[in-house]
Amino acid sequence: MTEILLEAGAIVKDFPLGRGKHLRAVDHVSFKLRRGEILGVVGESGSGKSTLARIVARLLPQTEGSVWFDKANLASYSGARFARAEARRDIQMVFQDPLASLNPRWPAAKIIADPIRRLGTPKERDKVKALVEEAAERAGLPLGLLNSFPHQLSGGQRARVDIARAIVLRPKLLILDEPTSALDASLQAHVIQTLMQLRADLDLTYIFVTHDLNLVRLISDRILVMQKGALVEEGPAASLFASPREAYTRELIAAIPQLGQRRVERAGREH
Ligand SMILES: Nc1ncnc2c1ncn2[C@@H]1O[C@H](COP(=O)(O)OP(=O)(O)OP(=O)(O)O)[C@@H](O)[C@H]1O
Ligand SMILES: [Mg+2]
Repeated sequence: MTEILLEAGAIVKDFPLGRGKHLRAVDHVSFKLRRGEILGVVGESGSGKSTLARIVARLLPQTEGSVWFDKANLASYSGARFARAEARRDIQMVFQDPLASLNPRWPAAKIIADPIRRLGTPKERDKVKALVEEAAERAGLPLGLLNSFPHQLSGGQRARVDIARAIVLRPKLLILDEPTSALDASLQAHVIQTLMQLRADLDLTYIFVTHDLNLVRLISDRILVMQKGALVEEGPAASLFASPREAYTRELIAAIPQLGQRRVERAGREH
């Protein structure tokens, strides 16, 4: 059996609402991720997908539960010890809205080099330029754009800057939180193609959070379905779509715009 790269055990996240009340954004979610796998995470808006993603990426502490990565319990690392932990560079996140997540005052090259500055070895810091150029090339960002600032780039180019930043230290796991939702369909397809190529070339494992069930069916090995913070169903992509067990999963699948239906709608508009 393929090796387990990451295991989340009964993760809970409560956000305080004041007056002793809280909102449970993630409610006892457990899952395993195998090395090399693409795990899709779907669910309606507010179901806790991004919160779970951020906890797994160690950008947010969980209230309860454990995250094991490559056999180490990440919850047991805290503060400075975690900052030095190997896992910190092995798990990287690609964000939904690069315009909000990229530093607007930095040119692309500095954004992509940032993880090297923070987490790289002295040897890596000595060859920042070469590493940045290699990552940009792999992410499909023309090298001529490395001196451009985020606002000077198109949405697709910004997504590629964020991807280059995420791969520059050669992580093992990429957590992609709706990485292409800001892009139109054809750009989205190109970026997905780049991500699939990268995964093959760099031996990556993906957690792919998305609203797009058509996309997740196409690219994922397994899918987690979340509702109101809880994991309601989990299974291999093919069987989950062919025979969903939960009513909620059936609803999500029924809501997918069908290709045929879209054609009919388009024809209707043209006449
Ligand atoms: N920092 C925060 N403080 C308080 N509540 C939060 C915080 N972040 C998220 N929440 C709440 O937690 C719940 C889950 O949010 P989350 O962003 O994880 O959902 P999501 O599934 O990613 O939604 P979307 O599909 O819209 O991105 C929501 O009710 C949200 O309002
Ligand atoms: Mg989200």
